[in-house]
Amino acid sequence: HFRPWATLFVLLLLACRAAAASPEGIVIRFSHVVADDTPKGIAARAFKRIAESRSNGRIRVEVYPRSTLFDDNDEILALQMGAVEIVAPSLSKFGKIGFPSFELFDLPFLFRDTEEVHRIMRGPVGRQLLADLNRQQILGLGYLDNGFKQMSANRPLLRRSDYAGLRMRIQPSRIIAAQMIALGAQAVPLALSETRLALSTRVVDGTENPLSNFVTQGIHEVQSHLSLTQHGYLGYAVVTSQRFWQQLKPADRELLEGAMHEAIEIGNNVASAHERRALDVIHAWKETHVHRPSEAQRSELEAAMRPVYERAKTRIGARLLEQTLHELS
Ligand code: LMR
Repeated sequence: HFRPWATLFVLLLLACRAAAASPEGIVIRFSHVVADDTPKGIAARAFKRIAESRSNGRIRVEVYPRSTLFDDNDEILALQMGAVEIVAPSLSKFGKIGFPSFELFDLPFLFRDTEEVHRIMRGPVGRQLLADLNRQQILGLGYLDNGFKQMSANRPLLRRSDYAGLRMRIQPSRIIAAQMIALGAQAVPLALSETRLALSTRVVDGTENPLSNFVTQGIHEVQSHLSLTQHGYLGYAVVTSQRFWQQLKPADRELLEGAMHEAIEIGNNVASAHERRALDVIHAWKETHVHRPSEAQRSELEAAMRPVYERAKTRIGARLLEQTLHELS
């Protein structure tokens, strides 16, 4: 009950600080919710390095990882209020603020691999989604990968019946909620920063995330079973505010666009190596049993999640869904 006031206070404080920045020096605050040592954390730091060196220090980038400034409930609002200049929420978090079509990327078993994801992101569907953000004075600078999600709980999650009655922490996406319900579980939206505690105190029973988030959030330490279901994709949109962007000189916009483009490449390139490393960490931990579903088990899960596509027609839009399926066929 206290928290909204605390958030508002921080927002106002930071918004005022922006106004006080010197006229020639540019300070960019990049806030995110995951660890430094993840694809997003690495991209954020690469952006800082490149932008600062190309501007000879005239542009300063401050990176705030691990929800130290804002958690995922507040970060987009913080951007719109001018309390930060760049955020990179997962695509699953845009539905809640009025862009339900972004939940397209949450559809289970839609993409076979990241190449297919990139085909949609770089094609007309992905470009349109980013352009739509202008409606709320948000400017999309690009998409960034994390990877494919796996399921965890204190039991294996390989068959539909394994999910019965489980409370699964999800990101605030209606499509992900529909996915959990289709499996017979309950969907509990929580901020990432609250997830480990909620699991360890049994407020929720399980969750889904790519392996780099599992390990860097210590989720494997509070879950005894990890099932490598690879059932859905998780990635980000890197965004800034139109207001901030418009006040920059064209040459600085170009510099920052180039820096972000390269930083995204760097983040994307480390994503699969991080996945492998995270799996090594989990194996070394020994207390989390790792399961690889058989083809038959994956097909069973896929069939169980099929009703989500019907739900997607109203949530995402039948035309967008059709266009995506067509581009992937
Ligand atoms: C989550 O909230 O589970 C993740 O999407 C957070 C993130 O930014 O990777």
